[in-house]
Amino acid sequence: MQEHTQTIFETQFEEDVYKGLTDFPKHISSKYFYDAKGDKLFQDIMHMPEYYLTDCEFDILENHKAEIAELFGAGNYKFNLIELGAGDGKKTKILLKYLSENDFDFKYLPIDISQNILNGLEKSVNEELPKVKIQTMQGTYFETLKRINMENGARHIILFLGSNIGNLLHPQAIEFLKSVQQLMHEGDLFFVGFDMKKNPQTILDAYNDKSGITAAFNKNVLTRINNELGANFNLDGFLHWEVYNPESGTAKSYLVSQEKQSVSLEKLGLKVDFEPWETIHTEISQKYDDQIVNWLAEQAGLEIIDQFSDEKKLYKNYVFVKQ
Ligand code: AVI
Repeated sequence: MQEHTQTIFETQFEEDVYKGLTDFPKHISSKYFYDAKGDKLFQDIMHMPEYYLTDCEFDILENHKAEIAELFGAGNYKFNLIELGAGDGKKTKILLKYLSENDFDFKYLPIDISQNILNGLEKSVNEELPKVKIQTMQGTYFETLKRINMENGARHIILFLGSNIGNLLHPQAIEFLKSVQQLMHEGDLFFVGFDMKKNPQTILDAYNDKSGITAAFNKNVLTRINNELGANFNLDGFLHWEVYNPESGTAKSYLVSQEKQSVSLEKLGLKVDFEPWETIHTEISQKYDDQIVNWLAEQAGLEIIDQFSDEKKLYKNYVFVKQ
């Protein structure tokens, strides 16, 4: 049962939290994990031994940087290296270093929603790789990509790393790939990281570490609601729970209420009741195989022209062109 007195929303966050917590079953999008504390917790996750994804992509970029650079710089054309959701650019710097040391003619255009993150990235690239031309672009992916398209005629190489695509359900992933495809021209490349299906235990361990970092990351969405929407979630009243379905390849994160409890969200004029063991679904982390990636590409009007895998075959970077 929910009680509410107000339904006028000032932000998308307010509207989504309201809708998600009054829906059945309850849900909140993982995109709301990422405030300053969530960003820091995700950095910590990427350093955990269980979270193999980051090491695998490092491994791929390190071991295949020469082949990847040849692909990007084919025909000696100058190119724009555009990164969607660049973050701290740690992995991308492997490529940037190789490309600049080997005199490829390119410009690095990292796109991120956070100007703060972009400022840090620009500073570190200027310090560590002074030969790299960098132009940061703050904004949402598509609005920014469109701006780049209007601006110049160079070839575009678009990077989307970290299996970020896995946080989208297949229909949304297709929409996302289509939106990029529509902005691509002949000769442009789209380089995307996908986490592959593997031993289910390896996946469960990566999303349910013993040190509790992933649990804190998941629960951070409740802290955010407490801070920003005047709520009184008791974090100890909820369990972090991870499930993985090896058939569909979908890992799902939940917050599970350990008792009957009520939470009020002052800013939304909303009271939310939880039954014992009631869930809030917070995240999906999709895992893939070649068939699924082929199907997604086809649906989006893309074609796979190359792929790179880490030594343990846990993760892949696929290269797409417009069909
Ligand atoms: C950002 N994204 C690809 C991560 C993932 O693997 O789904 C977020 C994450 N959630 C729990 N651990 C890491």
